[in-house]
Amino acid sequence: MSDFLTLGIETSCDDTAVAVMRGEREILSNLVSNQTEDHSVFGGVVPELASRRHQEDIIPLIRKAMSEAGVIPGDLSLIAVTAGPGLMGSLLVGVMTAKALSQGWGTPILGVNHMEGHLYASMLADPSLVPPFLCLIVSGGHTEIVLAREGRNYTLLGDTRDDAAGEAYDKAAKLMGLGYPGGPLVEKMAQSGDPDAYSFPVGMKGTKKIEFSFSGMKTALRTTVERIKKEGGELPVPDICASYQKAITESLLSKISLAAEMTNVRRVAMSGGVAANTALRNGLREMGVARGWEVYIPPKNFCTDNAAMIAAAGASTWRRGVRMDVIAPDPSLRM
Ligand code: KG4
Ligand code: ZN
Repeated sequence: MSDFLTLGIETSCDDTAVAVMRGEREILSNLVSNQTEDHSVFGGVVPELASRRHQEDIIPLIRKAMSEAGVIPGDLSLIAVTAGPGLMGSLLVGVMTAKALSQGWGTPILGVNHMEGHLYASMLADPSLVPPFLCLIVSGGHTEIVLAREGRNYTLLGDTRDDAAGEAYDKAAKLMGLGYPGGPLVEKMAQSGDPDAYSFPVGMKGTKKIEFSFSGMKTALRTTVERIKKEGGELPVPDICASYQKAITESLLSKISLAAEMTNVRRVAMSGGVAANTALRNGLREMGVARGWEVYIPPKNFCTDNAAMIAAAGASTWRRGVRMDVIAPDPSLRM
C-alpha cells in the first residue's frame, strides 16, 4: 500500500480542500482554501457564492497540493471526492472536477461520504484508535453520535431534531452581530465571560434518548438579547457567550455519556468543526478520565473540514474492494 497515492477532494460546504496521501495515513499535502471572508458579511454560508468560489479555487488548489506532494497525475492510484452530504452546488464542483480528472488521467475514482470522512479524521490523527468506538460528529450541518464497528459497519445512534450545534453557534453569533463562522467567535468572547450568568435550556436533557435539540436554547437566547436591548442596557456579550457555550457543551457531553452507557463502548472520539471548541474538548477529556474511557480528539485542523480525511476514507474503502461505476453528488447522503 505504500505506493498507493490518493488525491482527496472536499467541497461539501464553504471550504475548498485538497490533499495527497500515501497509503491510508501519510499526508503528503493537505490544503484548505477558506471562504470565510466572502460569507461573513451575510452571517452564514451563501450557497451560490460558495459554488462560485469552489469553481475558481479548485484547479489552482489541486495543482498546488500535487506540487507540494511532489506527484504528477500518472503517480496517482485513486481520486477520492466527497459525494455528500452537503450543498448541491458545492458538491457538484468537487464531483465534476474529480470525474473530469479521472477521465482525463485514467485514474479510478471513489465517492466518499463526508460524515465517514469525519470519522476517519479521528483515526488519522491517532493510529491507535480502532473500532469499535463512538464518535460525536459535530459540525455546522450535523450533530450525530455514530457507533463505528470493524469493516465500515456504522450505526447512527442519534442526531438532532432541529439545528446542528455549529448552526446554533453560527446563529447566536449572527444575532449578536459577531460575524461568521460563529463558533470560534462565541468561544473567544466566552473566555472573558461568566458561564453561570444566564441559564439557557438544554434540549432533551434528562431523556434516555440519544437525541439533540438546540431550537429552545436559540429561542431563549433571542428572547434574552431582545429583552436587554429593549431595556436599553448594554449587551453583556462575554457572559451570554460563556453561558450559551456551557449549555451547548452540556447537551453534547450528556448524550455522548448516555451513548457510552447504552452501548457499553468505552472508546470515544470526536470530530467536526465544533470539536475544535476548547470547552468541549476539555469537557470530553475530563469526562473520559472520570468514566475510564479512552478519548480521542484530533488536532483542530483535522476537526474542521479537510481533504486528508476524505483521502484516508477513500483509500481505506478502495482497499476493502469497493468500486463505483457512478459517482453522483447527493446532498442528503446518509451513513
Ligand atoms: O466541520 P465543519 O468545518 O464544516 C461542516 O461540515 O459544517 O464545521 C463548521 C462549524 C461551524 O458551524 C463553526 O461555527 C463551528 O463548526 N466551529 C466551532 C468552532 N470552530 C468551528 N464551534 C465552536 N467552537 C469552535 N472553536
Ligand atoms: Zn464537516
